[in-house]
Amino acid sequence: MEELSTDRLVVREWELDDAAPALAIYGAEKVTRWLTPAMGQVSDTTAMRAVLHAWTEAQPNMLPPRGRWAIQRREDGEVVGGLGIRLLPPYDEDLELSWQLRPDAWGQGYAAEGGTALIRWAFTQEIDELFAVARPSNTRAIGTAKRLGMAWVGETDKYYNLTLQVFRIRPADLPPDWD
Ligand SMILES: CC(C)(COP(=O)(O)OP(=O)(O)OC[C@H]1O[C@@H](n2cnc3c(N)ncnc32)[C@H](O)[C@@H]1OP(=O)(O)O)[C@@H](O)C(=O)NCCC(=O)NCCS
Repeated sequence: MEELSTDRLVVREWELDDAAPALAIYGAEKVTRWLTPAMGQVSDTTAMRAVLHAWTEAQPNMLPPRGRWAIQRREDGEVVGGLGIRLLPPYDEDLELSWQLRPDAWGQGYAAEGGTALIRWAFTQEIDELFAVARPSNTRAIGTAKRLGMAWVGETDKYYNLTLQVFRIRPADLPPDWD
């Protein structure tokens, strides 16, 4: 994927040099407490670099639109968050869009803005739906899913053995000006 640009952000691939800002996201308990068990809280920059190494190695072998990306603020070049698209275990049929922002970047619409750009790109990759899952008490994530135009599908415990709210978006759900 080429970089995606929005008014305030660039969505781009992760680099090893992103370890410090990535740790501000994936080392923050306020963020990782909401993530699925596959992504635990990262302890330090060395561990974060190892995670980024694994992500950057895996990325070229992932079938688009799967992958992981950094959300970078254009104004100051700061990495403020991450986005991912992956198959939801255990059935590996449903594609999940996920988003994470470092806590001091919450409340500015960055997940919605970056997520919107990624959804538009994902729907150019011959897929017909994307899902998001969130714990019922994760009101911020649920707010972001709605802001992205995702529709509530229901509650399930089929993923990760967790009770999760499920949201879905299809190309027909995109506003006309997104075409
Ligand atoms: C989920 C998460 C990304 C949401 O962060 P967020 O900043 O609330 O998300 P959004 O990008 O949707 O921003 C919406 C907020 O920005 C505000 N905002 C400010 N400027 C805005 C703009 N230009 N456009 C849209 N919203 C804007 C909105 O009013 C809203 O704030 P409010 O909820 O306080 O009313 C963040 O809480 C997070 O990283 N959580 C931990 C990880 C997580 O739960 N991930 C999802 C797991 S499935």
